[in-house]
Amino acid sequence: MWTDAPRATPGQAAPALRFEQVTRRHDGVSALDAVSLQVESGVFVALVGPSGSGKSTLLRLANRLDRPDEGCVLVEGRDVAHGDPVQLRRRIGYVFQNVGLFPHMSVAENIAIGPRVAHGGDIDVATALEEVGLTAEHGARRPAQLSGGQQQRVGIARALAIRPRLLLLDEPFGALDPVTRDQLGHTLRRLHDSRGLTTVLVTHDMNEALLLADRVVMMNQGRIVADATPREMLHGLAGAEADTLLAIPRAQAARLAELAQ
Ligand SMILES: Nc1ncnc2c1ncn2[C@@H]1O[C@H](COP(=O)(O)OP(=O)(O)OP(=O)(O)O)[C@@H](O)[C@H]1O
Ligand SMILES: [Mg+2]
Repeated sequence: MWTDAPRATPGQAAPALRFEQVTRRHDGVSALDAVSLQVESGVFVALVGPSGSGKSTLLRLANRLDRPDEGCVLVEGRDVAHGDPVQLRRRIGYVFQNVGLFPHMSVAENIAIGPRVAHGGDIDVATALEEVGLTAEHGARRPAQLSGGQQQRVGIARALAIRPRLLLLDEPFGALDPVTRDQLGHTLRRLHDSRGLTTVLVTHDMNEALLLADRVVMMNQGRIVADATPREMLHGLAGAEADTLLAIPRAQAARLAELAQ
């Protein structure tokens, strides 16, 4: 069967992202403890887990902003330890937890610089802004002249501007109000599907993870403690840790249903 979006046939193409027995320690303490994870091409993964569980560390290793003490990380089958990290980063869209826009450039320049450096080409900045719900008027401002949520949208537009196949987002919706958050989540999922991306989204919001992702990976204390589809999670098939985390959205949904009666 052929579909519009390029999808890998299992067993043929290399997975978009693969961690093999990855350990990362800081001062003897494991931020990641022998983590193995494979993300197939075209899949949308939500990475959840409490603060300090190792989510950002995992993403940073994929982009070689950090290096493992043990194990290896492969992007499209290639070990990121070999090769040029700059070339690697030009292939991966990355949204930082703290956004990290260039303060002295306009918003439009922040979006345009990536493709210019990576491919020497210009992109349609107006469309890139529009895709994340911003306008050309926002593009003319400096990042500091935008709200936190608007800056986060620019971060997403900037990551997408280089036309990556792999998109890594570290809590990109942290400073957004719930309505915008929901809208931008849908936008992200739509772009994931239409561009045939492989996406890893770090989020603290279990509802968001369940509603947006094909697969939810849950971390705790540097290990993966659950890895399942949203449906499996909701059917209680993902283990005790997943059930504990799911208890909160379940209880909230039940309380809302009660109030509505
Ligand atoms: N540069 C560093 N030096 C020392 N410890 C670090 C460093 N970076 C991360 N850690 C530790 O590694 C662990 C994992 O951190 P990480 O940032 O990956 O967590 P996280 O899951 O992203 O948390 P959050 O949800 O708060 O962003 C934490 O205990 C953190 O304190
Ligand atoms: Mg983090």
